[in-house]
Amino acid sequence: MPSSLSRRDFLAVPLVLGAGALLPSFATALAEETPPLPDLSDWAKVRAQFTLDPAYLHFASFFIASHPAPVRDAIEGWRRAIDRNPFHVVEHGMFEDEASNLPRKVQVAIARYLGGQPDDIALTRSTTESLALVYHGLPLKAGDEVLTTVHDHYSHHESIRLATERAGATMRRVALFEDAAEASTGSIIERLLQAMRPQTRVVGLTWVHSSSGIRLPIRDIAAALKAKHPEVLLVLDGVHGIGAADETIATMGADFVCAGCHKWMFAPRGTGLVWADARNWARLRPVIPNFSDMESYNAWMEGREPRTANNAARMTPGGFHAFEHQWAMAAAFAMHEAMGRTRVAARIRGLNDQLKASLAQDRKVRVHTPMSGDLSAGLVAFEVEGLSPQDVVKRLLEQRIIASTSPYAVTYARLAPSLVNTPEEVERAANAVHALATR
Ligand SMILES: Cc1ncc(COP(=O)(O)O)c(C=O)c1O
Repeated sequence: MPSSLSRRDFLAVPLVLGAGALLPSFATALAEETPPLPDLSDWAKVRAQFTLDPAYLHFASFFIASHPAPVRDAIEGWRRAIDRNPFHVVEHGMFEDEASNLPRKVQVAIARYLGGQPDDIALTRSTTESLALVYHGLPLKAGDEVLTTVHDHYSHHESIRLATERAGATMRRVALFEDAAEASTGSIIERLLQAMRPQTRVVGLTWVHSSSGIRLPIRDIAAALKAKHPEVLLVLDGVHGIGAADETIATMGADFVCAGCHKWMFAPRGTGLVWADARNWARLRPVIPNFSDMESYNAWMEGREPRTANNAARMTPGGFHAFEHQWAMAAAFAMHEAMGRTRVAARIRGLNDQLKASLAQDRKVRVHTPMSGDLSAGLVAFEVEGLSPQDVVKRLLEQRIIASTSPYAVTYARLAPSLVNTPEEVERAANAVHALATR
């Protein structure tokens, strides 16, 4: 967002009056105050970054992140700086030259991870906010349809429902499978393509389902969809894929990727993103006034409409935020970069394979997540014969194992092995489930 950064340029405030000129380079000072990334070369060292209660086995980390040390340090550094000098730090970090613009540094760190351009990233506060911004920004009109699936999260369906209702458009949900454990790439694509209608303008999918744990093969789906319906837009809820799967997200084939970063990415709670390319950003209409696109501000100052195409900066919700959290997003992306996307995904896959293999041996346990790591990521959804999912979770908690139930009409128990777990912990959790099954 180079066009967006210099309010002073527009206002023609002499440099000497800008906060940056009066302050030492606070970004440099702060960087010096923030410890360098720790050694993350083995999983015990990664686990040591978290202050999770050691009395429990944490198998619901995907719900909301515990901040690891680099993220805690970054938040604390920015918080101290803002508390010392709120006006100057925020003014300098948000509205002056590009070199000291802090959201820009976050966008650069995210773009490196996603394989896209910094200018194409809108910073948000959650998956929910990202989805709402995209669906409400789409130029939907009466007669248009948004096709989604029965498998998506409340936040996704509600974003579509509210946006289509407002536009006089419609939404429809289809099942991509009856049982996720039996689904295949071919069968999913076939069902989706069969469900398409001439009025379908947008398809809304979820990368990794928090209902069943299936990871949709988005690259294959997007290629098949675009081959037949090049004009249809694909919106993706990517929250349980980012930080868990080894993917270059900006090249997956989705038109809009919406994700909270406060789950698998370990970014500060209350942070998220939308990625789209410039062509797709130009299709949307902003919903919330932004504080990051210079043209919006110029247009307002001059009493006219913005002249340039819509973009990520213009879609980024403005207003002042918990900036120490937003700016510390960069630390989480740097941490993932240091751990390595491939290595992270392989570790998560290994732990989840181990859990599924153990649970699948039990006649009284039904695993709903595909066994193949190609169609799953970090979530294992299952049922234990004769016990409700709520009872499974309750009894595991009695043994200090934190599991969860999926918040859907059809609900399962879930264990989500992640970077905070070890193979030994996975074995203990699996054994605890076996013990419930044979009680
Ligand atoms: C698939 C899915 N989408 C969206 C959300 C909501 O995420 P957020 O809290 O970032 O809005 C969740 C919550 O866990 C989820 O599982």
